[in-house]
Amino acid sequence: MTAVATTLRAAAERIGLRIGSAFSFPAYNEDSRYAAVLAREFNCVTAENEMKPMFLQPERGRFDFSTAERLLDFAGEQDMAVRGHTLVWHNQMPLWLRQGGFSRLVALEILRDHVQQVCAHFRGRVWCWDVVNEALNDDGGWREKSPWFQMTQTEYIERAFVWAHEADPEALLFYNDYGMELAGAKGDACYRMLRDFLDRGVPVHGVGFQGHLGVENRLDDAFANQLRRFRDLGLAVHITEMDMGLPCPVTDEARQQQAEEYARRFRLALAAGVSAIVLWGFTDRYSWVPSFSKGAYDEALLFDREYQPKPAWQSVLNLLKEAGARSE
Ligand code: XIL
Repeated sequence: MTAVATTLRAAAERIGLRIGSAFSFPAYNEDSRYAAVLAREFNCVTAENEMKPMFLQPERGRFDFSTAERLLDFAGEQDMAVRGHTLVWHNQMPLWLRQGGFSRLVALEILRDHVQQVCAHFRGRVWCWDVVNEALNDDGGWREKSPWFQMTQTEYIERAFVWAHEADPEALLFYNDYGMELAGAKGDACYRMLRDFLDRGVPVHGVGFQGHLGVENRLDDAFANQLRRFRDLGLAVHITEMDMGLPCPVTDEARQQQAEEYARRFRLALAAGVSAIVLWGFTDRYSWVPSFSKGAYDEALLFDREYQPKPAWQSVLNLLKEAGARSE
């Protein structure tokens, strides 16, 4: 018999799903309501910024784990799994690295040092790592403008996986990107890259679909099929940064559509065997959507600015409970 689940966390645990949120240290630090709702509703966290290279290695050879440690302490106390994000990305690199213009060999040394120090430091406490983030362009080509590509061509990608695995053999290693939710050149390129890695024994265990998609992007079976294709390679599939901006000015009708679309995306993801769904934040008080969209979108998450659950929270909860009832 089912007790009534009244939180996303309880409903997700019943079906073995990790449901997560990005964790913002500034928000955690300034507002006590933040931690309470986060721990009540979610069983997984991703550092929104605090584990990116510019924070972990602000100067070459000087690592600073202090803020990330606060997140890990919180996650440990609340029994939440941590998705590590991210070891290698073209954004939020420390200045010394972005502007370094290092030779291929030196760049690979820096990469090895960063990946190994960070993975070894957090060993046993990080469930999965987004090892490489956004190495592909939208047209399916390599992101040639990335400093990493400019220094090493494509070599950095697989080396990062190999070194991460050496430093933390237990962590699940992910490639993470956006714009692959639907069939198309980028998803195809990712599929080919990961199949090639698997064929050659490069240690990759999963693929992350970021899922930053406004409400107007009504997803359907094509999304589930895309996710399944990667599951069929034997990879774990996570939704890693889901949010759903509403066009401004926001209407009640849009909030209702958001509720329906959130439930639909969760349903499709679960049907495709997704094992973790992480939202890019949980309260509209702290979301990157308004600033990233330059004010065009807002209210992308499940709780409003005062931490009150929105219609989207209710519809996701209902969906998870229905999935739980079916699995009994
Ligand atoms: C974003 C954060 O939300 C912002 O606070 C920061 O200023 C920039 O990065 N894809 C990713 C995330 O993989 O790391 C990004 O996070 C959003 C897009």
